[in-house]
Amino acid sequence: MTWRATILTLFPAMFPGPLGQSLAGRALEQGIWHLETRDIRDFASGKHRSVNDTPFGGGAGMVMRPDVVDAAIESAADERPLLYMTPRGRPLAQEDVARLAAGPGLIVLCGRYEGVDQRVIDARHAFEISIGDFVLSGGELAAMAVLDACVRLLPGVMGAAESAAEESFTNGLLEYPHYTRPADWNGNPVPPVLLSGNHAAIAAWRAHEAETITRQRRPDLWQARAPHEMKGP
Ligand code: ADE
Repeated sequence: MTWRATILTLFPAMFPGPLGQSLAGRALEQGIWHLETRDIRDFASGKHRSVNDTPFGGGAGMVMRPDVVDAAIESAADERPLLYMTPRGRPLAQEDVARLAAGPGLIVLCGRYEGVDQRVIDARHAFEISIGDFVLSGGELAAMAVLDACVRLLPGVMGAAESAAEESFTNGLLEYPHYTRPADWNGNPVPPVLLSGNHAAIAAWRAHEAETITRQRRPDLWQARAPHEMKGP
């Protein structure tokens, strides 16, 4: 079965956007995955077809109406998980991506304005997902990030050259640094071990680099490593 993504958005013209290029775009053309958008505005009724309203309790901005959003969800709902992209969500991790890529696909709700009425998020048991501790102007770019991360893991999308086996997060660490020709660039040599032909020494050097950079940049990842991976204090 083809992995299917349905995007519920007020800006369907933003898609496929970058997902129509490169790896994801090629996979889309090959039919490895399928992308469909639904314009949330098509599910608004009434004279003004309004999709949002002022927040109860006061405050800035507008809130997307639960009745309109629910009708959009209903039009797409099936066995696929429903994600709601929001900076309030649980941070997306590579293990989540792997799980989502192994399933039938995704339905992704993209909010605009101040967000979506919480009742429809709760009633539909949507998974609230964040792509980082910063605020985008809407969920669309976040949805694209999730889709890109999933699609590259689908069978037949990544070649051997782009193997996911050694990349960042797969083993709970950031990845080691990469170098290519020229061996000396503007007086900057590559680390000599990489030219040694000694595969064991190269593997050891890379493991050490990955650990060092993870400790420096991501003490949270370093602390979270499984106990069996721990090597001393
Ligand atoms: N919508 C706005 N900001 C977002 C973020 N950081 N992650 C997911 N969805 C968002």
